[in-house]
Amino acid sequence: MRLPEPRGPVSAMLIDSLRRPPHVVPIVQTADEEDLQLALFVCYELHYQGWDEVDEAWEWNPSLLALRAGLEKRFEADLRDRIPEHEPVTEVPQALAALVGADDRVPSATASGFLQRRATRDQFLEFVIHRSVYHLKEADPHTWGIPRLTGRAKAALVEIQVDEYGGGRPERMHAELFRSMMDSVGVDSTYGAHVNAVPAVTLSTSNVISLFGLHRRLRGALVGHLAAFEMTSSIPNRRYGDGLRRLGGDRTATRFFDEHVEADAVHEQIAAVDLCGGYVSSAADQKAAAAEVLFGAACCLAVDAAASDHMLDAWHAGHSSLRTLR
Ligand SMILES: [Fe+2]
Ligand SMILES: [Fe+2]
Repeated sequence: MRLPEPRGPVSAMLIDSLRRPPHVVPIVQTADEEDLQLALFVCYELHYQGWDEVDEAWEWNPSLLALRAGLEKRFEADLRDRIPEHEPVTEVPQALAALVGADDRVPSATASGFLQRRATRDQFLEFVIHRSVYHLKEADPHTWGIPRLTGRAKAALVEIQVDEYGGGRPERMHAELFRSMMDSVGVDSTYGAHVNAVPAVTLSTSNVISLFGLHRRLRGALVGHLAAFEMTSSIPNRRYGDGLRRLGGDRTATRFFDEHVEADAVHEQIAAVDLCGGYVSSAADQKAAAAEVLFGAACCLAVDAAASDHMLDAWHAGHSSLRTLR
């Protein structure tokens, strides 16, 4: 993956530094959300596939981690500001269902409804480009949770991830299904090809899971994020698949979406009941654990809604939702 174009002082310093051998990087401040989210994304990718021609020793460079910690502090504080405090509960599956069910928008007011019925082919391809930032590494950030859980919650997370990773068949890995879909609709499916094209609001949908996944103290938020993700997947994916069929997509193209209609109807139960329920019931402080699970779930809903609304607003205003085509 080629290093992206900088968007401000932090990403500029970081990208320039990464082109050279590991050294001490200064702490640079930024007030710009595009700069912040891109810089975080650049730091996090060192833990996934890495960047072309960047020394792998950068991954654990203490000065880079110190810089990242400052960015994460701001990102997390912003998320905690945006998410209202939940009433203390211990019945987590029910609370998750209530949280997810609180979105009562009619389909036509959502990006999935628009993509199903009205989007042009170009708009659908933009949606694919936005989603590729996460889906080409689908499941990877949640996998960080496995060694941090025990018992029922750990078994549940592994059960979900086995499906996400194709049950031993590489061509059935969800990230691979996404890649095949990109190929069949004619969008560049190279990992990281579209980072420059997507705005901060899209990068944040990936960054939030990396943030939760890479910090043990945020494991409750990580499992809550996954539960909300699975619980809000089946219906939109049916709409995406229908939208792509309407635009002439064949079975290879729609397979990623069709697969999620089926799989996530099962995953949402495992995630809410066994993963999140199991995690909270084994915690020393169940109310605090439940609050973190619900915080993570609410973050998932908030960042995904912001990214979807960004696309929908751009399309309604008659322009592209991508940075490079505006
Ligand atoms: Fe999946
Ligand atoms: Fe799933």
